[in-house]
Amino acid sequence: MELKTAIVTGASSGIGFAIAKMLTEEGYRVYGIGRIFPEDADFFEKRLSLDLRDTDILLAKISEIKKVDLLVNAAGSAFYGLAEFNTPDQIKEMCRVDLEVPMILTSALLPKLKDTKGMIVNIASVTSTRINTHGAAYGALKAGLRSYGRSVYEEVRKTGVRVVTVCPDLTRGTKLYRNADFEPSEEDGCYLLPEDTAECVRNVINMREGCAVTEVEVRPQYNRIVKKKE
Ligand SMILES: NC(=O)c1ccc[n+]([C@@H]2O[C@H](COP(=O)([O-])OP(=O)(O)OC[C@H]3O[C@@H](n4cnc5c(N)ncnc54)[C@H](OP(=O)(O)O)[C@@H]3O)[C@@H](O)[C@H]2O)c1
Repeated sequence: MELKTAIVTGASSGIGFAIAKMLTEEGYRVYGIGRIFPEDADFFEKRLSLDLRDTDILLAKISEIKKVDLLVNAAGSAFYGLAEFNTPDQIKEMCRVDLEVPMILTSALLPKLKDTKGMIVNIASVTSTRINTHGAAYGALKAGLRSYGRSVYEEVRKTGVRVVTVCPDLTRGTKLYRNADFEPSEEDGCYLLPEDTAECVRNVINMREGCAVTEVEVRPQYNRIVKKKE
């Protein structure tokens, strides 16, 4: 039987990396997109090292992949702090990586996903449903991604394509908080691991044909962030 093919953005780190690894266990050939991959990440069919904001290069690279069963939009960028102090460059980077890129990839790959009755997995965030002081732009973009996924699913469900928005909460072991002055607490039960979200995605992609999970939240039992040590 022909192997299934997945394209995973954000595959070089954190949640996207864990999803890519899980997909290879599930028998997928995984094309991972990121900028700097760990040297020992040798399970990929191909590692596409590029800046997702370079649309021409991105579209040229993915056009070389003939059959696509799964698109995972896991790349993300986050800058925190009061909205008043978000710089134009920070806002532009978040808009492009968190929302523009998933939309561009969705529209480019839907014809191929229709051929395979495939699936799109968008990694949004629990912030997509909340008020997010000190993270207003990031939360707004994740809310946009969630809204986009819901609408696209309604457009394409008749073709057999499924679209799911996965909303993780505070996750340790990723680089997302590199620009923040806080991080998830390391106390037991106060954080997720990237593998928790990957397991959730494993369950979602393995639902029987004809059953579509469209939204999932993954949360640690307790909710605690801590200020980073100087
Ligand atoms: N960590 C959390 O608590 C949390 C909670 C909810 C949702 N999420 C979401 O989960 C997803 C994964 O985040 P993470 O926590 O795993 O963070 P992460 O470790 O920082 O991973 C982000 C990934 O996105 C890639 N990326 C960012 N900008 C890029 C660009 N311009 N071009 C190419 N690749 C780019 C990074 O690639 P390089 O490192 O190679 O540049 C990396 O692979 C994001 O969408 C994030 O919003 C995270």
